[in-house]
Amino acid sequence: MSIIEKLSVTAVRNIDGLDIEPIPTVNILHGENGSGKTSILESIHLLASGRSFRTSKLEPLISSDKDEAIVFARLVGGKEIGLSKSRRQKHHLKFISEKQTNWENVARELPCQILDSNSFLLLEGGPKSRRQFLDWGVFHVEHGFVENWRRTKKSIANRNLLLKQRSPDLSQISAWDSELCLAAKEVHRARQEYFDVFLPLFLELYRKMNGAEVDSLVIDYASGWDTGRELQDVLMDNRDIDIRYGATQNGPHRADLTFKIGRNRAVDILSRGQQKILVSTMKITQGLLLSQALDRKCIFLVDDLPSELDHDNREAILSQLVSMGGQIFVTCVEISGILDSLSSQPKLATFHVERGTITA
Ligand SMILES: Nc1ncnc2c1ncn2[C@@H]1O[C@H](COP(=O)(O)OP(=O)(O)OP(=O)(O)O)[C@@H](O)[C@H]1O
Ligand SMILES: [Mg+2]
Repeated sequence: MSIIEKLSVTAVRNIDGLDIEPIPTVNILHGENGSGKTSILESIHLLASGRSFRTSKLEPLISSDKDEAIVFARLVGGKEIGLSKSRRQKHHLKFISEKQTNWENVARELPCQILDSNSFLLLEGGPKSRRQFLDWGVFHVEHGFVENWRRTKKSIANRNLLLKQRSPDLSQISAWDSELCLAAKEVHRARQEYFDVFLPLFLELYRKMNGAEVDSLVIDYASGWDTGRELQDVLMDNRDIDIRYGATQNGPHRADLTFKIGRNRAVDILSRGQQKILVSTMKITQGLLLSQALDRKCIFLVDDLPSELDHDNREAILSQLVSMGGQIFVTCVEISGILDSLSSQPKLATFHVERGTITA
């Protein structure tokens, strides 16, 4: 079960020695600006994925007067996850008392999605975040995906090293081309299969949420090369260009999702709030697909929902999240802002955050 029943956070930003026992439904973290609400969500996200949703470096997360940040969670069913990150050393991650060399087991056990004021960046930002979005879904429904993705990355890295040499060894490049094509085919197949299931469910939900331009929105998955041709042939034909750039220009590392309304990019048409609805619906769709495919529900971290959303849209998003039945953590300054937006009456726990601790 992906439900946190105990969370302890030490030395993450302004939080020192926080212990909470969240409930399996809706947990509201409320408090003044700067009290530490987002930092609690950040701690959960860090534990679940090894990454923050606020910064690419982990150093700023460690409290400025401490050397080591620690996050611990016990899940319903008893499994425990512990993470420590010090300034000078690599992190230590433990799952059920076993040291982990990467986040694969933990990420599978604790699937988390964040909805925050930067959510619209999924549309506006570069393709990397959209690939990460797609691969999050594929990772959870297809176990072999990680290995194929690792093989793809390794082949591209080795190929790029060869491409950068003064007189590239063409036979070695060909050898990596073959390896890359085998892995890329599987990565593309898995992404395409996931996208084919994702899209109709997303559109159904987006219509239900009264999403803007629902009839003219077109979302496509682009594999990263012309899939009308064999990748092997594409790599061969583009070899001179790749050598000139010193980098592989075609392949699954160039995949993307495109969003269009008519001839325009959706991001150039939709308002900020409308983009948030779209992205929130995408993330909720992933949560639904996860629970359909596995006996597991995604934890939703909802930070500062009111920003740029009107009452009806806040209510639509929260009702959808609540109806999915997973654990939710929602932050707000005034608790009334969230209570107003909850049309159903889910079981709630409230935590008042004050200067990095819980006071009620
Ligand atoms: N490395 C750090 N060490 C100590 N304090 C930090 C560190 N990084 C950030 N802070 C402080 O931690 C506090 C918590 O910030 P956080 O973003 O969690 O607050 P918040 O409750 O979400 O506020 P808001 O309502 O404005 O979103 C801030 O006061 C910030 O200045
Ligand atoms: Mg905040």
